[in-house]
Amino acid sequence: MNSITGRVLTHFLVKNFKSIGEDGVLLELKPVTLLFGPQGSGKSAILEALWRVCEIISKQEEISHISYIEPTCSYEDLVHKHEIHRKLELGIYTQINQNIYGWKISYWVDRETGNDMAEQYVTLVEEEDPEKFKEKIILGIRRKRVNEVGFRDVIVTSDKGIRKEFDELTSGYSVTGLKDHVFKISALPGHERQLTADILQREEESQKIIRTIYTKLKGNHVEKFALLSPLRGDIPSETDVSMRMRYDNELKPLDPRGRNLIPFLSCIREYPGYSKYWSYIVRWSEFLGLADLRAGYTGIANKLTSEFKDSKMDTVIKLSHGSYGARQALSICAQLFSPTQNLIMIEEPEISLHPETVAELPLMFYEALKLGKQIIATTHSPILPLAIPRLVTKAKEEGLCTDPNELIAVYEVYKDRRGTSVKKLRLNERGYIIGYIESFLRVERQLLEEWEKGLPE
Ligand SMILES: Nc1ncnc2c1ncn2[C@@H]1O[C@H](COP(=O)(O)OP(=O)(O)OP(=O)(O)O)[C@@H](O)[C@H]1O
Ligand SMILES: [Mg+2]
Repeated sequence: MNSITGRVLTHFLVKNFKSIGEDGVLLELKPVTLLFGPQGSGKSAILEALWRVCEIISKQEEISHISYIEPTCSYEDLVHKHEIHRKLELGIYTQINQNIYGWKISYWVDRETGNDMAEQYVTLVEEEDPEKFKEKIILGIRRKRVNEVGFRDVIVTSDKGIRKEFDELTSGYSVTGLKDHVFKISALPGHERQLTADILQREEESQKIIRTIYTKLKGNHVEKFALLSPLRGDIPSETDVSMRMRYDNELKPLDPRGRNLIPFLSCIREYPGYSKYWSYIVRWSEFLGLADLRAGYTGIANKLTSEFKDSKMDTVIKLSHGSYGARQALSICAQLFSPTQNLIMIEEPEISLHPETVAELPLMFYEALKLGKQIIATTHSPILPLAIPRLVTKAKEEGLCTDPNELIAVYEVYKDRRGTSVKKLRLNERGYIIGYIESFLRVERQLLEEWEKGLPE
């Protein structure tokens, strides 16, 4: 039997990020992962954390480099309850051959010294079930930013003995050329030959794992992941050609607000090697009411534009004047059927969509899965869970799945005093959520009771 192979990540771990506290959230990611849950429960926080760790990791190729979170806001705003001494932990996991490996990064401020600390690990997962999750550190590096002075690093391994010796070995040692001094163990005083061989072997193994994860997230200098925020769909009527991404292998992801949709579409449409992807986009835009979609030069000056035909009225209309629901969904569709990105995070794909359109989303997702995409979405849609079986039926018909739980992971996200937590919901063999979604059921029951009370005796 064929199977759907497009799974960049197998798990995602986050602790002490925004509403997610010390208990953390560990998600098992499937080709499609859906997050349901009440307002403010932490769905977007989970997605943002995943996007940020992908951003951080796609900037570094080696364990001895530790990148930091892009300062789009202060660290204090990101860390749980603004407590900067908490360890903000982010980890992504991927399968390489038969094993699952993790790449974890943490940041915190040392309570006593006020030093900025960062730690990075490569791990081997020994038990992958999130309930019993267990991993072993292959190699790690702790970086201490001694304020105003520079950095000091310590190698960390899962073996306590080695860790202690290396803490001792490196203490008081002034590290100038960080990478060489830390990894050329011979540069450290008093090392044991045996220890060196062990660490060097671990380093080699770690670098291989890091390279693989790095390539999955970034290839040809282009990010292979994308996040679509709920603010997408505000498309300009024209885009100056100077902003255009000209080169086929340089198709950058849509920005979270989809503002580069026109150059993105133009690039896919114009490059002959992308015609397969363009045909998916054209077919799905027609379904969204955007027939004969075109994108490219206007013919006037250096402008790009995009237009479609309103079939009912037989009128050509600029994309910027299309309906909002269609525009936002086109951003999703363009990103899902992009030739270069594989890991696609979507906030509330149902925004402004009629239930009939929402009910087709799982089929759009399914076609993207077959191209190797992995999708993670937050949603409030009561229609979407009822339409998941459409995807499952199709996958079963085409012999691509036997257990729907291998294709789709569904979580309900909660928040209480301890912060955000998740509960995994299982699907039955047809793809319906067993027991449905607790918070949806609660409100549906309440409303039906209110309706019942108003009925004549
Ligand atoms: N630094 C922080 N520490 C603790 N909680 C925070 C922090 N920053 C934000 N929050 C809280 O995180 C919560 C989660 O917000 P998030 O946007 O993830 O919710 P959501 O589930 O996506 O909700 P919605 O359905 O409304 O989009 C918010 O209610 C906010 O109060
Ligand atoms: Mg949200």
